[in-house]
Amino acid sequence: MLNPVAIIEKKKAGTKLTGEEIRWMLQNYVTGAVRDYQMSALLMAVYFQGMDSEETADMTAAMLESGKVLDFGPGGSPRVDKHSTGGVGDKVSIALAPLAASLGIKVPMLSGRSLGHTGGTLDKLESIPHFRSVLSLVEMKRMIESVGCFISGQTNEIAPADKKLYALRDVTGTVDSIPLITSSILSKKLSEGIEALVMDVKFGSGAFMRSKASARKLARSLLKTGEEMGLRVSTVLTSVEQPLGFAVGNALEVIEAVNLLRGKGPRDLMAVTGLLAAEMIVAADLAKSKSKALQMARRAVASGAALKHFKKWVAAQGGTLRFERADLGLELAGLRIEMKAWRSGFVRRCDAKALGLAVMDLGGGRVSVDDDVDHSVGLILRKKINHKVKVGEPLAVFYARDMHTLREAEERARSAFHIGNSPVGQRTSLIIDFPR
Ligand code: URA
Repeated sequence: MLNPVAIIEKKKAGTKLTGEEIRWMLQNYVTGAVRDYQMSALLMAVYFQGMDSEETADMTAAMLESGKVLDFGPGGSPRVDKHSTGGVGDKVSIALAPLAASLGIKVPMLSGRSLGHTGGTLDKLESIPHFRSVLSLVEMKRMIESVGCFISGQTNEIAPADKKLYALRDVTGTVDSIPLITSSILSKKLSEGIEALVMDVKFGSGAFMRSKASARKLARSLLKTGEEMGLRVSTVLTSVEQPLGFAVGNALEVIEAVNLLRGKGPRDLMAVTGLLAAEMIVAADLAKSKSKALQMARRAVASGAALKHFKKWVAAQGGTLRFERADLGLELAGLRIEMKAWRSGFVRRCDAKALGLAVMDLGGGRVSVDDDVDHSVGLILRKKINHKVKVGEPLAVFYARDMHTLREAEERARSAFHIGNSPVGQRTSLIIDFPR
């Protein structure tokens, strides 16, 4: 008979756990027989002692087995998903899922809500009137058959062990552990019934992984564990030193994602979306080379096929958008104020974290899981790193509800910018690496 204290002691001493021990702890944690305080102790032991790839795969399998898996049966179109570890201004999924689906890839995408300064795709989508952001398993399958993609929040049926464990990690300082992040992400992605996964591992001030070295470590862990679990994973490392695109804030980001599908997206957002689309297309065996795949993605946007698919997808999840309007009919906060440059020069810093926090000050994010999010607030950057700016020119425009939150956000956003005498040059390279 296994017992939790012995398992905790074993990991505490740095000894490898068996698959049986890991499964036993997880299963009994889900039923409540292993208590929060015992699981907290094990998580902290894992945090300090780590887990090797076999243990991480066992942990992933145990979490996956705690719930249901979307079953599409054998054959059919390739099923490929993209997942990002999250960064300020990252609205890629909103454009990428329908883009890939317009090319015949099935994209069953489970996504999350925001916590802290990085946004969450579900909150962005919930700015769309009537959009149903949590689908049942039956509805998910139907969406894949009829539209080819969906984006939905996790239900209680999918990887419930992760849901419980993540909430515990969040309050015990054990989120930023590579094996725990790996098993958390992969258990959810494996439950989608996909054949391949493209991971955008973000690093920098606006991301979860601050350094490139830690992002690379996470990428390697995802690759190795994916391989052990029979899931083809490819990874791309991208920087979130500054926000992706110009829009930060839920409704504003949906508008920018639609502009991208109209061929009018900001260059950095187009570059990351194009790269991830190409990775998905190659993973789905629809193109032999990434350059061919990128051409296919560009054609899907230029021909309007991706936008057409976006409209079909949003409507199928109940959302109503007014495409004849620049604001798509989304509610945007009425108090709009520019933050002006205090000197002339070049933008040398446009800190993603500070800008993400500024949007939280406006009410656009959540500090704890039960907080309400104001979808209508946010900011549009007018200048980013290396841009030339004249004194008095706007650096950003705020969309706020009231003067109080606006002042707080403006003060924070001011600290995000540094204007110097010269540009910083190549330091802003966005797409950094492709760990294998
Ligand atoms: N995203 C997840 O789903 N899990 C983690 O642990 C971290 C990021």
